[in-house]
Amino acid sequence: MDKQKIIVSKDLNVSLSEALQMIDYDKLFVLTDEETALYCLPLIRDNEKIKDAGVIVIQAGDLHKTLDAVSGVWMYLSRNGASRKSAMVNLGGGMVTDLGGFAASSFKRGIPYINIPTTLLGAVDAAVGGKTGINFNGLKNEIGVFSPSKVVLIDTTFFQSLDRENILSGYAEMLKHGLISNDKNLSDLICFDPENIDYRRLQELLVISVKIKEKIVSEDPYEKGIRKALNLGHTVGHAFESFSFERNRPTLHGYAVAWGIICELYLSYCLTGFPADKLRQTIRFIRNHYGTFEIDCKDYDHLYELMTHDKKNESDRVNFTLLADVGDIRINQTADQKMIFEMFDFYRDNQ
Ligand code: GLY
Repeated sequence: MDKQKIIVSKDLNVSLSEALQMIDYDKLFVLTDEETALYCLPLIRDNEKIKDAGVIVIQAGDLHKTLDAVSGVWMYLSRNGASRKSAMVNLGGGMVTDLGGFAASSFKRGIPYINIPTTLLGAVDAAVGGKTGINFNGLKNEIGVFSPSKVVLIDTTFFQSLDRENILSGYAEMLKHGLISNDKNLSDLICFDPENIDYRRLQELLVISVKIKEKIVSEDPYEKGIRKALNLGHTVGHAFESFSFERNRPTLHGYAVAWGIICELYLSYCLTGFPADKLRQTIRFIRNHYGTFEIDCKDYDHLYELMTHDKKNESDRVNFTLLADVGDIRINQTADQKMIFEMFDFYRDNQ
């Protein structure tokens, strides 16, 4: 897989011109959703190279990460003279960069594209690493391809208008990157106050975080092995996320991952010897900032069912990425139902 160039911008327009110079194109298109068209596009619209670009606007939100929306993007490109030499800029959160990456990678067998993430979650996760896709048949990211953007342009100006919850949602993925890297990164993240943000410091932590993801992706771009480290917290996190939608208590992705991390670090403590003091320290940080997602013992069966339906599982044992210590990653670990129910007991006892 081609390596993505990552630009951490100090001046959005200068960096954008630099990014666009890295690709050859005849026509340029910008993909936005209704929100980013309103709040983010104006920040780049005056750029010399963006002025004449065709702007495509899709509906915002994961519900619209559909084949219909992709078809709308292809139709716009096709009707507006896009060729194999055209390029696209995806300006938005993870939904826009996932869908836009897929639309660009399949249009005329693939045109180059640039991701400009406008959320912290997008910058630290979706925009980096080459996973693109859409939801299909009720399943998240069921259709897609590995196809990296040529450039990821990260500019923290966009994050300054995010609310506390959306900052925390992205920060959970940074915390995950801390846990899978080293003690220094983890303790820097735990010492940061995400409620009272120093944006310069956030940018420094973000750069480290993106590098951690970049390094793992470069070792295993197609997720055959070590890239599974990035799934820490996500097996339980996805179950909490789906459950929250089913129960009309929708939660942001990063919150579900943070609660999933509590559960999966407990499994790590039981099954792979993760140190108790680091477990306690991480739980304290998550509880203080993310609160709790309440479940009771009547929910265990259904949560377990949500996990066993996860496409990563081959039997009724559930597959996890665990840690033997911070940075000591153990992929392809499994736990049975009894262990998983014990994990939920621990999660509830530590609410
Ligand atoms: N979101 C995890 C990955 O990119 O592999």
